[in-house]
Amino acid sequence: MVRLGETETKLLETALKGLEKAYVLWSFPVGAAVLAEDGQTYEGGNIESWISGLGICAERAAINHAVLHGNRKIREVAVIISSEHKGESRPCGSCLQHISDFAEKPQIKIVTAKAENGKILFETVQVKTLAELLPFPYRK
Ligand code: THU
Repeated sequence: MVRLGETETKLLETALKGLEKAYVLWSFPVGAAVLAEDGQTYEGGNIESWISGLGICAERAAINHAVLHGNRKIREVAVIISSEHKGESRPCGSCLQHISDFAEKPQIKIVTAKAENGKILFETVQVKTLAELLPFPYRK
């Protein structure tokens, strides 16, 4: 079991708020949160469309939320899904690139977990770095 600090716990709690707000038509809710350089946290949830490719993942929604509030540097990311879903919660390739576009540094933490009855399941928490998940991000 990963021991979480106060910052990561707060970030996962923010991600839980995103999970509640997710707009899901054909899949399952995902919540995300980003910690910006100035200490603010921003939640995101996946927003689906009947045209599947038009939807947006929770992570990118959270990043866009931060950027549109003037925060262009991200220090940490959290992702959460409900425990009833199989597999781990973790950012997809497109989200990893978007995180990398705004990440303060490649070593930023990406904290993932599952939730049950609106509460974080701490035994499911995993912490990885962006560099581990996306070692060669695209750059011009
Ligand atoms: N999704 C996310 O929001 N974040 C992830 O990390 C993986 C997948 C969304 C996209 C879609 O709405 C649903 O989860 C199923 O793929």
